[in-house]
Amino acid sequence: MERFIIPHDHEITKEDRRNLNGHGSVILWFTGLPSSGKSTLANEIEKKLISTGARTFILDGDNVRMGLCKDLGFSEEDRAENIRRIGEVSKLFVHAGMIVLSAFVSPYRRDRDAVRALVDDGEFIEVYVDAPLEVCEGRDVKGLYKKAREGVIKGFTGIDDPYEAPLDPEITIKTAETGLDEGAEIVISYLRDRNVLKG
Ligand code: ADX
Repeated sequence: MERFIIPHDHEITKEDRRNLNGHGSVILWFTGLPSSGKSTLANEIEKKLISTGARTFILDGDNVRMGLCKDLGFSEEDRAENIRRIGEVSKLFVHAGMIVLSAFVSPYRRDRDAVRALVDDGEFIEVYVDAPLEVCEGRDVKGLYKKAREGVIKGFTGIDDPYEAPLDPEITIKTAETGLDEGAEIVISYLRDRNVLKG
């Protein structure tokens, strides 16, 4: 297919939007096994950020797999496409001057690295939400590990589908050992140290 796409040069830039918001804009990318605590941690961080007046948005399965990605399942190809779309949406949020918190299992390294490559250096912050499988399975927030063990769900991450842990994540939070508040503060401190948050 021949395509003629010539981007329009909009006058308002990412920097203008960051200045307006009073903070930098980045992707906080939470990856980890199901029930590792990605959404819980993202939610806690967002509450803290919002209370300082920061502009944020959470992308997770609930608002993405019900709409934008409702045509996708959990095969390797579908997960890659899921993460590709979420990556592109996350990038738009960065251009909008916001801190976007994207919480997805995202089990494949190459899919996460492809999102990293979409944005500028320092704009992709990989947060490895690290908890042992036994702990995640013990939590089984949605009862899906049980279904996977029973064979009702096939290809469930951690049971009969792979999870490739990050090799060099910006941040690792071990949720079995770290309290929720403490974990959130580690991420907020990182944002302060990198001047994403001022002061
Ligand atoms: S990803 O692999 O494409 O990143 P995503 O984060 O969107 O996955 O969705 C994972 C959520 O979907 C899990 O938390 C779980 O609730 C549900 N789910 C349903 N089937 C599967 C499966 N086969 N593997 C992993 N998660 C699944």
